[in-house]
Amino acid sequence: MIPSVLPTYNRAPLTFVKGEGAWLTEADGRRFLDLGAGIAVNALGHAHPALVNALTEQAHALWHVSNLYHIPQQKMLADKLVEHTFADTVFFTNSGTESCELAVKMARKFFYDKGQTERVEIITFDGSFHGRSSAGIAAAGSEKMTKGFGPLLPGFVHIAFGDLDGVTNAITEKTAAIMIEPIQGEGGVRPVPDRELKALRQICDDNGLLLILDEVQCGVGRTGKLFAHEWAGVTPDIMMIAKGIGGGFPLGAVLATEDAASGMTAGTHGSTYGGNPLGCAVGCAVIDQVATPAFLDGVNRKSGLLRQKLEGLIADHPDVFEEVRGSGLMLGLKCKPNNLDVVNAGYDNEVITVPAADNVIRLLPPLTLTEDDIAQAMIRLEKAAKQIESSLATA
Ligand SMILES: Cc1ncc(COP(=O)(O)O)c(C=O)c1O
Repeated sequence: MIPSVLPTYNRAPLTFVKGEGAWLTEADGRRFLDLGAGIAVNALGHAHPALVNALTEQAHALWHVSNLYHIPQQKMLADKLVEHTFADTVFFTNSGTESCELAVKMARKFFYDKGQTERVEIITFDGSFHGRSSAGIAAAGSEKMTKGFGPLLPGFVHIAFGDLDGVTNAITEKTAAIMIEPIQGEGGVRPVPDRELKALRQICDDNGLLLILDEVQCGVGRTGKLFAHEWAGVTPDIMMIAKGIGGGFPLGAVLATEDAASGMTAGTHGSTYGGNPLGCAVGCAVIDQVATPAFLDGVNRKSGLLRQKLEGLIADHPDVFEEVRGSGLMLGLKCKPNNLDVVNAGYDNEVITVPAADNVIRLLPPLTLTEDDIAQAMIRLEKAAKQIESSLATA
């Protein structure tokens, strides 16, 4: 009999009932160190007092009003995002997937309104992930996500990751935009080198294309800058965000320049819950915490410490780990044995990591991780590595 919850997820046999900082308590009382943060969602950890206050205060005042009316919390968060980024304007969504939908629509409408109605194609990259909607799976294009769900939304051209010549060769009079994650998350924590992101910006400028960055996973302080593209010194025309901006409350957004957003006039797009007062109150509290030099310096410092210790872990366990890659607190450990075995060994030792493609385990801890938490992370990852080694020895 089918379970009452549609069985689309492979769930670990774990049920968490409480969270505090970087720690989760299982129903049986065990405490797990959370290096996954709900896949880069709990940017400020679990039960951060500023977020609890923002949510409960707003809950006592007003939960929901329609976008038929003005929502001050929405304006406040949009103003903060505009102040801290390249963007002139923001549309609020509930998830990364919904942000992807709008990014695609916005790019196409931009050219449609300019009379270039044939310009509908968006160049994307192998190994990318942009969500599970029809546009999201067509954008990513991998068979794993698209098989059985045809006909696929047309208008996406897939290029090998890192193939800049391939991008240039793929541009035609139909091309509207290039869409890319500055660091592929699901794809295995694969960063786009700064020089490549710069080159993509240049290719867009030279060909009159829009650059869409998907910072759903790598944004909101995760890499040690407020947004990952800042490291490369370039700005997009359109950016998708979600995950960290809500700190655990479902919230996403599309940020855009005035020009890129010019087609999105009244009546062209909408969302019942997008920009809901609860979500935006929490989003404001997240940005107030994260968008400060001291907070971002802290992310960079902790990243340096964690990375240095992970290099030591790799050196001590060369049969388990191959390399560490990524940026800030978005790190990937490439594994030699099956990465799912390593994640499971982590569970046995009460540390949570997240599998990704390319046989990688992701470390996406709360950005509020402490130095003590890092020490605990290393003790637990070390134990997991030893467990894997002894199972390899007896295999
Ligand atoms: C880069 C990227 N884009 C889009 C999405 C989809 O976001 P959501 O699951 O919030 O719809 C994800 C989710 O993992 C992501 O990592």
